[in-house]
Amino acid sequence: MTDDRDIKRAASIIRDGGLVAFPTETVYGVGADALNPIAVARIFEVKGRPQFYPLIVHIAESSTMQILCPLMDKRVKILIDRFWPGPLTLILPKSSIIPDIVTAGLPTVGVRMPAHPLALKLILEANTPIAGTSANPSGCISPTTSEQVLEYMGDKVDMIIEGGRCKVGIESTILDITKKIPVILREGGIPIEEIETAIGKIEVATNTPYHRKYTLKTSIKILKEGEINHSGQKKVGILLFKPSSRPLPCKVIKILSPSGDLREAAANFFSYLRILDEAGLDIIYVEPLPDTGLGKAIMDRILRSIS
Ligand code: TXA
Ligand code: MG
Repeated sequence: MTDDRDIKRAASIIRDGGLVAFPTETVYGVGADALNPIAVARIFEVKGRPQFYPLIVHIAESSTMQILCPLMDKRVKILIDRFWPGPLTLILPKSSIIPDIVTAGLPTVGVRMPAHPLALKLILEANTPIAGTSANPSGCISPTTSEQVLEYMGDKVDMIIEGGRCKVGIESTILDITKKIPVILREGGIPIEEIETAIGKIEVATNTPYHRKYTLKTSIKILKEGEINHSGQKKVGILLFKPSSRPLPCKVIKILSPSGDLREAAANFFSYLRILDEAGLDIIYVEPLPDTGLGKAIMDRILRSIS
């Protein structure tokens, strides 16, 4: 059985930028320090999905909300009092302390306080919020035992915390509380009726909003064979995977990874894209990334930004 020494070891792995699979009351999660973008990039690597999507930030004390999402209204306080710790994830506007990769570039973040003593101990001991997702590879069902996690990703995580079979067994209910009428984005461990009893009318989403096309102010073009076509365009920006020796006639140049490392590139991608988009440019060129692992996920997001 898991003891305090195991939790201390897991917490130091998290603090050092590692990945830990941990039990919650819903399903097992795989998590990393939510404030360390390189560590968070590894989560997407082990999931093996060629796409970024927003992760859930797991916390152990409601006071952490002041740092992560300070804009809380009365309804949020009611829900927290009533359902946390427990299987309810709240979507709220995020503070800038949360790296963009955690939310896949969204201005909102999903937060929840899991009702499993080992998950809570881990978060407290690590002394940082833990960004995570269900500990299954893309396309497989969420694991509810540590054996299943071992089978799924035993060789890819730094530690698996054994915490028995998950009591709830289905994922948390996700509630977008940024709207006047809150919206259920995923049905899960807390029934909709119970939430309505607490805060009044809510709606159920028919499509999940983050699957929408990702819109930018500036137009984007994939750079082909080093060609930059200026024809009439004055202010040009470029997003490079790694440093380039050729001269680039650009106003803004952002390099995703000085050492050509995809994990580092993923960690920087969302914030660099935002910087470029806000630089008042006419066009942003993007150097294609290697078509493997996190490179695929970055390219997916770029292609979805091209209108
Ligand atoms: O019970 C659970 O929620 C488990 C345990 C480990 O906490 N976690 C889990 O994570 O199921 P995951 O990544 O498999 O599902 C979380 C989903 C994402 O796929 C996304 O749909 C939604 O949460 N989500 C997270 N942040 C969001 C945001 N800012 N806006 C919209 N949806 C968000
Ligand atoms: Mg999942």
